[in-house]
Amino acid sequence: MRILGIESSCDETAVAVIEDGTNMLSNVVASSMNLHAKYGGVIPEIAARSHIEAIIPAIEAALSDAECNWSDIDAISVTYGAGLSGSLLVGVMTACTLAIIKKKPLYSVNHVEAHVYANFITKTNLDGYVLRERRPLFPLLALIVSGGHTQLVLFKDHGDYQILGRTRDDAIGEAFDKVAKILGLGYPGGPNIAKLAQEGDSKAYLFPKAKMTNKYDFSFSGLKTAVLREAQKQIGQDFNFPSKNVAERLSGPQKANIAASFQRIAIETVVDKTILAFEAFSPKSIVIAGGVASNLELRRQLTDRLAIDISYTDPRLCTDNGAMVGALGYFEATAKKEIADPYSLHTQPNLSM
Ligand code: KG4
Ligand code: ZN
Repeated sequence: MRILGIESSCDETAVAVIEDGTNMLSNVVASSMNLHAKYGGVIPEIAARSHIEAIIPAIEAALSDAECNWSDIDAISVTYGAGLSGSLLVGVMTACTLAIIKKKPLYSVNHVEAHVYANFITKTNLDGYVLRERRPLFPLLALIVSGGHTQLVLFKDHGDYQILGRTRDDAIGEAFDKVAKILGLGYPGGPNIAKLAQEGDSKAYLFPKAKMTNKYDFSFSGLKTAVLREAQKQIGQDFNFPSKNVAERLSGPQKANIAASFQRIAIETVVDKTILAFEAFSPKSIVIAGGVASNLELRRQLTDRLAIDISYTDPRLCTDNGAMVGALGYFEATAKKEIADPYSLHTQPNLSM
């Protein structure tokens, strides 16, 4: 079964063709990130307009890379939430229109859940991808770490899951982005912090870990504030000093030490909780998903500290992509999930798992 997966929830217009939920025939990602960089974050109106320009060429490229025409496609799946309203609308309206005119069944998928399904893609002829060798097994513990979400989820089977914990304030990716802003690094902050951290001492500053009532919950806003206070202290100022002027007064080594110390604690926090959940629930597999799952410090700490083998997928399948949407669409189709009605499917910007 071949599924065309369409993803447009944030600033990536992404389309892929996935065969039987595991074989990636194509994976096209057009990003409007460079248009947002100068604002330090995604501007929803710019993202939505970019999706309109990019979506038809992305679909054509995904079909062509997969050497498919419409008669080879069995179904369409599309992200209908969570995400930016205008961005989601472009993907959903396009998918609904194509489902009607091409007479294809339509599956509506949850973006956050789809991130987990990037780990079910184990085969491709596309150049340069390093994928997992085997599909994960159930029960499956998923650590979902993105710009909008941070949660630990235990999957008993496809579609049958329990949320063990989630963030009570900022997502971990958001914390990376905010700390990057304090250090004067560009958007998106995650990769820039990770790069700068390589030059710093990760024990230079001891930032705090939040204590939560539910031991699987997360909180990152206190860590972000602790970073700002330390940066202000380093330049001899107090908490009244504007955060936007801190970066220009910090030296290169100070910035690198802050980046490394922040990254170590942020990553240690999610790894600590993953290990607690692993010990309590004894899953057969662990997967990491979402943009922050491409972070090498996260992979290193998990591999070092977990008592089971863990395998990771290509970083390009951790950030937003259509392949994960095509993969989840397949498992929903085979689980006989209700087909979406293309005449009435609505976006759900606040959809949660
Ligand atoms: O999953 P994603 O592409 O979009 C959302 O659904 O949010 O995640 C984007 C987030 C951003 O906050 C970005 O800074 C972060 O993932 N990110 C990283 C890395 N690459 C992307 N964070 C830490 N280290 C990275 N290497
Ligand atoms: Zn995402």
